[in-house]
Amino acid sequence: GLVDKDGHRHFMAKEIHEQPEVIAHTISRYVDPTTKTVHLPDGSFNFAKLDRLTISACGTAYYAGLVAKYWFEKWARLPIEIDVASELRYRDVPWTKNGGALFITQSGETADTLSALREARANNQQIAAVVNVPESSIARESDIVFPMAAGPEIGVASTKAFTCQLAALACIAIAAGRERETLSAEQEQELVSSLLEIPRLVAEALKQSDKIEGIARDIAKATGIFYIGRGVSYPMALEGALKLKEISYLHAEGYASGELKHGPIALIDENLPIAVIAPMDAHFEKTASNMQEVMARDGKALLISCKEGIARAGAKTWANIETPKTHPMLAPIVYAVPIQLLAYFTATTKGTDVDQPRNLAKSVTVE
Ligand code: G6P
Repeated sequence: GLVDKDGHRHFMAKEIHEQPEVIAHTISRYVDPTTKTVHLPDGSFNFAKLDRLTISACGTAYYAGLVAKYWFEKWARLPIEIDVASELRYRDVPWTKNGGALFITQSGETADTLSALREARANNQQIAAVVNVPESSIARESDIVFPMAAGPEIGVASTKAFTCQLAALACIAIAAGRERETLSAEQEQELVSSLLEIPRLVAEALKQSDKIEGIARDIAKATGIFYIGRGVSYPMALEGALKLKEISYLHAEGYASGELKHGPIALIDENLPIAVIAPMDAHFEKTASNMQEVMARDGKALLISCKEGIARAGAKTWANIETPKTHPMLAPIVYAVPIQLLAYFTATTKGTDVDQPRNLAKSVTVE
């Protein structure tokens, strides 16, 4: 049924395992698999005329937006402004003349996001939302609704909504690149082909579940954990830390790999493991050397990378999690899986209420 756990112990586990299917659904809303082209809903942004896109959201949805910033900049050469919704409207944003504003929200009811939307509207921005609940307030107040097909998400900590948001955002950014003529037809087809592979790779990433459960048993005893990443993996470090905080109550922080040495490395000891998100991309060597700096100070490094990355840098680490090789820019959708499983099993080890963590609400309707 729609709202049972389908044999899983928690809704969160069920929702993590649904991802190959719901990501495929989301992609199918945007992609023509025969021509390998992307199509946006009628009346979407005129990306060629847009002079800036402002992205805003809260929590996990904000981190999806941070990943999308890298995509819009690289593929569409579109200037991006991004902030959490609870800050955006308290700044005096110099809105541009032909600006668009894109809000990301599972529920479509988050009060801060709705207020940021109204602020953008008052400043004559064209308003779009990537939203899971089509009849929500944010969907109703948007000029353009970009659907995601995650289905109902019950677990308070967002999992499948996040990866579906990423899938939808990747499609939107590819379409923006085509319209702005910063992506060629071949590049579009190549990206779409890589995107169509993602559901299968996510299913493969899920197979590491037992191994991750073992690692999480040790993480549960730590005083805290750091996540690091570079490029598109930096927002994933932030999301990895958020997931752990939310459901396992373990103190976790996400850092840009290169920023670790500017302060937080002082905290590293054998009781503070550091999870390194390092897909095989242009940043791999630099992030691996940041990891070595941690290991040289007796830090326990957990390397999350593909087979090749683990072969190159995983010899003396505390533990490794192998993740399927993907298109480097699309890695976040696949790397979301080990991050979610690590948080999930740390929480089940500690015995916390995974689906209803203390002090949190699924949808926050106060500012
Ligand atoms: C709450 C949830 C988070 C979620 C955030 C934004 O804080 O606990 O998991 O990311 O709201 O929710 P939204 O519905 O706007 O995506």
